[in-house]
Amino acid sequence: MICITGTPGVGKTTVMKELKKRGYAVLEFDSLIDGCVLEEENGEKIVDEECLKDIRGEGIYFGHLSHYALCDLVVVLRCHLKELEVRLRKRDYSRSKIIDNIESEAIDLIGFEAEKIHPGKTYEIMNSKVEETADFIENVIKGRYPTRMKIDIMEEILDWY
Ligand SMILES: Nc1ncnc2c1ncn2[C@@H]1O[C@H](COP(=O)(O)OP(=O)(O)O)[C@@H](O)[C@H]1O
Ligand SMILES: [Mg+2]
Repeated sequence: MICITGTPGVGKTTVMKELKKRGYAVLEFDSLIDGCVLEEENGEKIVDEECLKDIRGEGIYFGHLSHYALCDLVVVLRCHLKELEVRLRKRDYSRSKIIDNIESEAIDLIGFEAEKIHPGKTYEIMNSKVEETADFIENVIKGRYPTRMKIDIMEEILDWY
């Protein structure tokens, strides 16, 4: 099971479409989580994270919760903070939800979670160009791993102060 995760807005769905175009069978992680949904509020699912840890799928799964599952390999898509803010503003997210997501991206919350759950099996890529991100994922799938695993954009926070 290959899990492609990242903060909402980093470009998961876009990269998913690119891989699909290249002939890969790609799936939404959300299609596996029905049994783990505790409640649904304003179309937003509240899930039991413990329950996600028992999920295993066959293939390439995309979703911001996918790294909780029994992944063999995790790819975390990253995005520059200013770019992410522009993208999230275009969604009808509340101000606090936008800030939450930008903060999570800044501190690489998902990357740290993923690395903690799957030590040594988590790879990060800055999703600058969709084609290059798809190339990166193709390489990882084929066992050609990059040497650097982490991307640090923490200093971009300084632009806020
Ligand atoms: N590499 C990229 N370069 C520029 N824009 C991108 C890139 N990847 C995604 N986007 C844009 O960012 C927005 C959010 O992308 P999306 O794929 O929906 O993110 P996610 O599925 O992670 O929430 C979309 O408008 C998309 O067109
Ligand atoms: Mg998406």
